[in-house]
Amino acid sequence: MIDYTKESKLSVKSAVEKMQTMEIMEKTFDLESNDIALYLAMSKRAEEEGEKEIAAYLFNIAMDEASHAAQFAALLGMVKDTRTNLLNMLAGEIQAEKDKSDASEVAFGEGNDEAFKFFEKSMKDETRHKEGIKKILSKLQAKD
Ligand SMILES: [Fe+2]
Ligand SMILES: [Fe+2]
Repeated sequence: MIDYTKESKLSVKSAVEKMQTMEIMEKTFDLESNDIALYLAMSKRAEEEGEKEIAAYLFNIAMDEASHAAQFAALLGMVKDTRTNLLNMLAGEIQAEKDKSDASEVAFGEGNDEAFKFFEKSMKDETRHKEGIKKILSKLQAKD
């Protein structure tokens, strides 16, 4: 008689391990992504303080974190074929544009002028991203 117990235990164990690895990679992706933004901001600060070498070093570390995050994004299956990626990005940019608009109203209402101005500025960037992705998509479509 074949004993399936050991095998089924093994497959449950590997499923759990896989789940844990996926969860750890998701968390790592978030942490690496946060580091990119923070290190870029710190690099900019070092630049403003006249510390050009430190600024360049922090910028390089930020790019390393970006490359780590990108690799985890790929391992997590977040990267699809280019057309699908562009469609997903478009949805994200449309949402980001709306979120920035809502956020700018909140900041305005609270009298936080600096935040208001930056939400407005970054909203325009999201609009530009949205329009750019739309153009690329229609060029891709024309190829068909
Ligand atoms: Fe990293
Ligand atoms: Fe964007």
